[in-house]
Amino acid sequence: MENLQKTNLITMTLDKVDFQLQEEQNFDWLKQYGAVFCVFDQQDSGNISFGVEKDERKFFVKYAGSKPIDFTGNPEDAIERLKKAVPVYQSLEHQHLIKLLDHFSTEIGYALVFEWFEGECLHSHWSFGGIAKYTNPNSPFYRFKKLEVEKRLKALDAIFSFHTYVESQRYVAVDFYDGSILYDFKSNETKICDIDFYRHSPSINDFGEDFWGSNRSKSPEEYGLGAPIDSITNVFNLGAIAFGLLGGERDRSFSKWDANQGLYEVAIKAVEEDRNKRYSTVKEFYDAWKSVLN
Ligand SMILES: Nc1ncnc2c1ncn2[C@@H]1O[C@H](COP(=O)(O)OP(=O)(O)O)[C@@H](O)[C@H]1O
Ligand SMILES: [Mg+2]
Repeated sequence: MENLQKTNLITMTLDKVDFQLQEEQNFDWLKQYGAVFCVFDQQDSGNISFGVEKDERKFFVKYAGSKPIDFTGNPEDAIERLKKAVPVYQSLEHQHLIKLLDHFSTEIGYALVFEWFEGECLHSHWSFGGIAKYTNPNSPFYRFKKLEVEKRLKALDAIFSFHTYVESQRYVAVDFYDGSILYDFKSNETKICDIDFYRHSPSINDFGEDFWGSNRSKSPEEYGLGAPIDSITNVFNLGAIAFGLLGGERDRSFSKWDANQGLYEVAIKAVEEDRNKRYSTVKEFYDAWKSVLN
């Protein structure tokens, strides 16, 4: 499968950046936003994204309509998904969410233009895949885990406050995982990216076991066809993210936890397998977390 895919790849160059696709495409429409300085061509979403720069201003441009290397689906579906994401970014605008600036159809596909955020992705599978995420001193996740607890708590606060806002707007996070967290190691700022699949709440799992998300942070509901996908689901996801950023990720023992016991208890309650034992809203979870902090 892997080899079969790789033999059919074509290489394209935009400005000084090379990337691969399964089929050639015209990217002339991208020039209006400036020169390409980086590309994200290894996503399985069906989107290919570019960092572009013009007059010292940087943008992140996400495009659906081509066939990226790791995409096995239909470009039309990726286009539909990206179009549907526009009102989601508009409804959930927040200081800790990357900012959508523009969106438009191209000859074949659809593009979203965001402000560039100078952050590094905490699950950068394309540059630090597999074990390297945890062991390579250059990996953003590795470097993040070396930061003092105060800084990591501040990052979690950004994540929790954004998701409390998501809940207040009657949305539910879908496919939120550590790959959606961008951390700027210079300014110590955190932003969330890739909220494309967030939906109106409550929703249901319409995919079964392969529902969106990572097994590092998916709740039991996110494996079961027809299960509720709602605030209580997101409570689990946020608790699991806390274990990723402060603890032993899927090893949720106290010995791997870098913060205090009070916070551990809040996080453990959030990741109860039985959804009835968790906090019943994201706000309740965040309030409990903050009350331990203060
Ligand atoms: N506004 C942004 N500024 C800088 N980098 C970004 C921005 N948004 C996303 N990225 C980077 O691009 C990667 C791919 O974006 P993502 O939204 O996850 O694409 P996809 O929809 O294909 O999954 C992210 O993991 C992140 O590293
Ligand atoms: Mg993504």
